[in-house]
Amino acid sequence: MNQIYSKSAFVLSQVFAKKGTVKGLSLNLPNVPSDRKKQIFAIVTETLKNKTIIDEIINSVGIFKSKGKQFRKKYPMILILIYEFLIGNEKSKNNQKNNSKKRRIRKFKFSEKDPLHKHLFSFRTQIVSQFARLKIKENSKSSGETKSNQELESIFRYARINILKCNKEDAIQHFISENFHFIENIEKEKPFGDDNKGFYLDFDVPNLFVFASGTDLHQDTFVINGSIILQDKASCFPALALNPSVSDDVIDACAAPGNKTFQIYELMKQFPNNSGKLFAFDLDFQRTELLRKRLNVFGAKNVIAQNEDFLKVNPNDPLFSSVKKILVDPSCSGTGIIANQNIFESANEERIKSLASFQKKILLHALSFKNVERVVYSTCSITIEENEGVVDSVLKEDFVQNSFHLENIFPKWKRRGLNGFVSCIRCSFEDKTNGFFVASFVRNLSQKKSNKKRKKKIQSNENLD
Ligand SMILES: C[S@@+](CC[C@H](N)C(=O)[O-])C[C@H]1O[C@@H](n2cnc3c(N)ncnc32)[C@H](O)[C@@H]1O
Repeated sequence: MNQIYSKSAFVLSQVFAKKGTVKGLSLNLPNVPSDRKKQIFAIVTETLKNKTIIDEIINSVGIFKSKGKQFRKKYPMILILIYEFLIGNEKSKNNQKNNSKKRRIRKFKFSEKDPLHKHLFSFRTQIVSQFARLKIKENSKSSGETKSNQELESIFRYARINILKCNKEDAIQHFISENFHFIENIEKEKPFGDDNKGFYLDFDVPNLFVFASGTDLHQDTFVINGSIILQDKASCFPALALNPSVSDDVIDACAAPGNKTFQIYELMKQFPNNSGKLFAFDLDFQRTELLRKRLNVFGAKNVIAQNEDFLKVNPNDPLFSSVKKILVDPSCSGTGIIANQNIFESANEERIKSLASFQKKILLHALSFKNVERVVYSTCSITIEENEGVVDSVLKEDFVQNSFHLENIFPKWKRRGLNGFVSCIRCSFEDKTNGFFVASFVRNLSQKKSNKKRKKKIQSNENLD
């Protein structure tokens, strides 16, 4: 793979020196098999297409500052490597899906030995964050519209129906009475109609209304009385992935302010005979108070909400012996939140590292509950460290490796986890949502059976004693 990159960088440097065209230079490379030549041609072409954005990243992140000065001469290689890191991996995965099954996936990873790779790797978080920011601007520029910056960076507004308080028809009638109009046949170009006052039901998340960017519903009476919950589409996925069934006890490990807790509660209550308990923990006292208040407004009176450090909750406590599902939605950098303007502050290297280590710890704690069958992990971060990185390191722990696997969630959702974690999903401003990540760990069936057998064996041994 390194050879492809060095040849691609060579072709690119020759193009910059006006020694030929990308096609001519790639296809005339000596001693390179023809399929490799085609790959090199594609990498160089795509890198050039994205050069403006990569240049902006190089400058804003400061790749050539201080220690980076020594790498100035390697500019073509830097363009290639950043392209591969940010875009190439994804493209080759998509090509693999769409074309031949036999084609090899080009899997990019920074090498730990190469000084240039190491240098770029140290900027990886800033590179990803800056890329996300620039793409927002890029997308809106290409739409040709003149809007304020705030509008340019905005996502759709989502409003979820609290089905315990209100039905779909009443909710639609309510918004119609507030001068919105319900759209059944959505026009791609103008999804919210000429006046931008249309709204429709989302295709992926049940009972979720979609409104135009900038619609403010905070003072809406149905929102105030808890019949409607303002919740970004992306943040609806974790509870759906958790999918509590009729008698499961469930834990929401980091619950406040409680949007997901309540969504889990609703999903549990859709079974009229549900006997499952829902435990909601949060470390922060004030946030737990807010969680309790909101649950009250939403009509979820019997959620057991505790102001407690989940890391100190004993997984072997008999109180939790029937807990089958746990949601872990821990504190994160928030780099996916479009409104978070302090993206560089949030994406500070040290902070990300310490967050990722906390996230790993709390996720492992959830996976250590004896009878848990599914643990869903989510963040509103776009950094690889807090998402795929955490999942990867958790999967490397022996007890997780032996007992759990990643479940392929929402197979129809196109934006999958990076670095090969295609069972997980990501959401992005390109989906008109905040940036988000969800992974679901499921206990292996054989493990469950052998646990049952072991229990039976112990019991029969005890009977013999
Ligand atoms: C991203 S927020 C959770 C959002 C929430 N799930 C929702 O949907 O509204 C993360 C929460 O984790 C809580 N937290 C951080 N460390 C914790 C710990 N050790 N145990 C329990 N909660 C913790 C924070 O106080 C914060 O409220």
